[in-house]
Amino acid sequence: MREYSLDELGIIAGTDKSSLGVNYLRQYERIFAEFRDSSINIFEIGVLNGASLSMWRTYFTQAMIVGIDIHEGSRQFAGDRVEIEIGSQDDPGFLAAIVQRRTPTIVIDDGSHRADHMIFSFERLFPALAPGGCYVIEDFFGQQPQRLKDWIGTSKISADTYFGDVIRQRLLGWIDPAFDAGMPHYLLHHVERIEILNGALVIYKGSRILSQDLDNVLALAKRCKFSYSLTALSITWEHSLRNIPKALEVALIAAQQFPDEPWVHVRVSQLQEYLDDFEGALQSQLRAIELATHDQRDSFTKRRDFLHTKLG
Ligand SMILES: C[S@@+](CC[C@H](N)C(=O)[O-])C[C@H]1O[C@@H](n2cnc3c(N)ncnc32)[C@H](O)[C@@H]1O
Repeated sequence: MREYSLDELGIIAGTDKSSLGVNYLRQYERIFAEFRDSSINIFEIGVLNGASLSMWRTYFTQAMIVGIDIHEGSRQFAGDRVEIEIGSQDDPGFLAAIVQRRTPTIVIDDGSHRADHMIFSFERLFPALAPGGCYVIEDFFGQQPQRLKDWIGTSKISADTYFGDVIRQRLLGWIDPAFDAGMPHYLLHHVERIEILNGALVIYKGSRILSQDLDNVLALAKRCKFSYSLTALSITWEHSLRNIPKALEVALIAAQQFPDEPWVHVRVSQLQEYLDDFEGALQSQLRAIELATHDQRDSFTKRRDFLHTKLG
């Protein structure tokens, strides 16, 4: 007997995600197929009558499905490869405890569909997502202007405004410096792709360079005849992996391989400064000034003066 498609399983299970309802499943099948036989964790916020949980369990052959709902009655749907967590998607302690036990690769928010909850859960669960995973938020329909008052909750902005900003920043690869901190900064460096599927949004977490690949990437970058690859790898360590000592290690290799490039020394200097090595930072900056072009000299010397003040 042939295998059912995800949409067919959805029709059998009776979830409104199928093509008889909001029609997400044909697209989900394309996105989820790579995980079909993997032992990943899938979180779904919103259990209702257990329809989608039973569909996920049939479609994914190895995954643990975690259903999250505010209603106690949802416990009845726990079973083989299905766990139920009772609590609200806007409870930070509750969400933190769940991700402490399991790292999700897929999160589907089909819960209250209130803007404040959609944003709140995303800000707690997206950072906990495994690299290469995806976060799905369903049913933006309540954010339509004429319906918004019933679906905004306590949020000051609608969910489409919030996620519209994420899309715009990701597209531009830039955030207004005044807001470049915290969550917007994190999202700029970890969101790799965003898709709109009817009324749902799928946000993919980057897996461009997974930590196990990094030794290999360093070996490749060392072979590059331009300083670009080593510098870019150093930036990856700094921004995506938040490891400044590693970023400095790679920047120092770049400075060794490309000793005549002023910016390479400025980068080393900046990283030394972050690690409170102001003396080292000053020496690297002085090296950059020696090599600076006429146009660079002004800004480079300003940084040197700043480092002098740090040294007292
Ligand atoms: C649309 S239904 C889920 C449908 C289900 N995923 C399916 O496709 O078969 C929404 C569910 O979200 C739950 N819910 C509402 N507010 C919630 C909250 N604050 N936290 C967690 N779940 C919530 C409701 O109890 C309801 O069961």
